[in-house]
Amino acid sequence: ELGGFPHFMLKEIFEQPETVRNAMRGRLDRDAATAKFGGLNLTPQQLRSIDRFVLTACGTSWHSALVGEYMIETLARVPVEVEYASELRYRNPPLTPTTLLFAITQSGETIDTLAALREMKRKGHPTMAICNVVGSTIAREADGGIYLHAGPEIGVASTKAYTSQCVVMALLALHFGRLHHLSYEAGLRIIDDLERLPSLVERALTTNAECRRIAGKYAGCENFLYLGRMYNFPTALEGALKLKEISYVHAEGYPAAEMKHGPIALVDENTPSVFIVPRCGVYDKVVANVEEIKARGGPVIAVVEEGDRDLAELADDVLEIPATADFLQPIVAAIPLQLLAYHIAVLRGCDVDKPRNLAKSVTVE
Ligand code: M6R
Repeated sequence: ELGGFPHFMLKEIFEQPETVRNAMRGRLDRDAATAKFGGLNLTPQQLRSIDRFVLTACGTSWHSALVGEYMIETLARVPVEVEYASELRYRNPPLTPTTLLFAITQSGETIDTLAALREMKRKGHPTMAICNVVGSTIAREADGGIYLHAGPEIGVASTKAYTSQCVVMALLALHFGRLHHLSYEAGLRIIDDLERLPSLVERALTTNAECRRIAGKYAGCENFLYLGRMYNFPTALEGALKLKEISYVHAEGYPAAEMKHGPIALVDENTPSVFIVPRCGVYDKVVANVEEIKARGGPVIAVVEEGDRDLAELADDVLEIPATADFLQPIVAAIPLQLLAYHIAVLRGCDVDKPRNLAKSVTVE
């Protein structure tokens, strides 16, 4: 059942080249340079008239919604709001009648997400589930939806479901982009990028040995910062959540520039900062943030693009991942962060697959 892996979490991390492929299987349409879905149950006219998305979820699924916000607003230019399901349920935000709700959930049973979906349905908004478990409550109650096809996720820490959720977000951004202003050529380029993604995820997994080594160096630390910008701000949040939930180490994720507004006070020689710094529009700015941490004596672990010599000199440890389009970086960058959290938790003797106080799906409010 574990296929030779010591834990489900590690097995599921290593399944990601395949699960990422499964999330897009049959959904890329080269003829129309778009993504297509079988189960949205809305006409192209209805879909085109959507003028706002609300993405709602909890925990890791909420992080994928943040990635989705960046992707959809950039590629489709439709405003997106991301709401914790527990807040959306009671907050009663003002919404246009043509607001579409996406509830994102691995299990399809999270009570807060279900309640938010029911509330949005009650108000007459069309609702969609992005879900892994087929036939789950949220999948059944939504008006339409998209399955992740990631297979059962047993480890309490979500890994493969997260990257599949991000892939589905990219497909939605492409789909809605092509309904609006995105050109045929731009659509094809996105399809090319998506088709290359599984092999890049495979390559990112080769950081495993290096992640184990770095974990050995820092496993005794009690505080970590995770910092990234733009598409990798949610990656930082997700990296921090993975570490805290399975290793019980305090970790905080921030947009890298925000650290100057408070968290930098935490930096000392025992507080490593994990930076996610691919070559992107804000690369130089993130490098400046790395320098600020180094100047205060904080150790820096940098997730960089292969061959990035500048950061190799600046950071204490580097994890190299393959380059990809900006909007797909969070999917590739998640891999070493999952592995780092995994190895730190193992070294600290934690029960990786069943961390204390946590359940795989949270069915109480
Ligand atoms: O099944 P869901 O995606 O609705 O679960 C939401 C969260 O409970 C879940 O992502 C939780 O944060 C994970 N343990 C994170 O690894």
